[in-house]
Amino acid sequence: MDVPKAQSLFDPQPGWLNTASYGLPPRPAWDALQDALADWRAGRTSWEGWGEATVRARESFARLVGVPASDVSTGAQVSQMIAPIAAGLPDGARVLAPVEEFASNLYPWFAQAQRGVEVRTVPARDLAAAVDDGTDLVAFSLVQSATGEVADVDATTAAAVAVGAITVVDATQACGWLPVDASRFDALVCGAYKWLLAPRGTGFMMTTPELRERLVPSQAGWWAAEDPYASFFGPPMRLAADARAFDISPAWFSWVGTAPALDLIEQVGVEAIHAHDVALSNRFRAGLGLPPGDSAIVSVDIPGAEERLAAAGVRAAVRDGRLRASFHLYTTEDDVDLAVDALT
Ligand SMILES: Cc1ncc(COP(=O)(O)O)c(C=O)c1O
Repeated sequence: MDVPKAQSLFDPQPGWLNTASYGLPPRPAWDALQDALADWRAGRTSWEGWGEATVRARESFARLVGVPASDVSTGAQVSQMIAPIAAGLPDGARVLAPVEEFASNLYPWFAQAQRGVEVRTVPARDLAAAVDDGTDLVAFSLVQSATGEVADVDATTAAAVAVGAITVVDATQACGWLPVDASRFDALVCGAYKWLLAPRGTGFMMTTPELRERLVPSQAGWWAAEDPYASFFGPPMRLAADARAFDISPAWFSWVGTAPALDLIEQVGVEAIHAHDVALSNRFRAGLGLPPGDSAIVSVDIPGAEERLAAAGVRAAVRDGRLRASFHLYTTEDDVDLAVDALT
């Protein structure tokens, strides 16, 4: 599907430049969600179909990031999905992360401090150079939430491999617009409610089989069983053999909205979305007299930007005192020009 056809499936009010906070649903996702809500209200169906939306969504996500679906777990939040990896670190392990990293990929590591786990932070741009012999794990976002900076994956993974450190990547601000190859990392987590256009409350975690062997699936319940529908009651524990052992039972309605959203991303293709998003981002940068960049997120210091955009009806974010504008599939040149006119 081409970008204009895909755009016809959205209903944004002009001026939504804040996908880095949350993405908007395409109509097939919205409609599926409304149908499920209507069924729920009337008690018209059983719940199994809602839960099965995770199957489609998991397969879509696995294709999007180039790994087998058997290495993908489904969860709810980034910090929740990272928690078992943090708990699986040996006592006294040393973690390295960007100082500006979003807290959900920092606090799970800090929370292990009582076992002697140490977290060292450096500016994102210095991350690869800061990997040393004592580093056990490097945690970083593929795209920084506050600044839109795209990580230097080649340098960081090479530095980690050289010292035998594992890499845990947060792709929440990347998957959906930036081509991502999850097979380059030991673990990759992604919340789906931003660039993957899903409702809040769904996410994915890719782990390698080698990493999973070192982890305890401490959140496992019936849904993490090999056959969930035969595992409602009683011992023994009969966990799935693959990454499903790390699934938590699905927030039904959010997953009903997630599967069609991922379908659409796949139909348009991340390469085409990448070209569209970065072109709009660079139109915005050019309008402000900035050189072109490589991100769908632009962070810029313009005094009074928040008030001027609000007066023009443009919705963007302010992070660390800087304007953060973000551009996605449904964004148009008119949206960009509305913002540029308000700011210049
Ligand atoms: C990079 C990144 N990771 C994660 C999140 C959300 O984390 P969680 O799912 O733990 O609420 C955000 C939200 O802004 C984010 O920007």
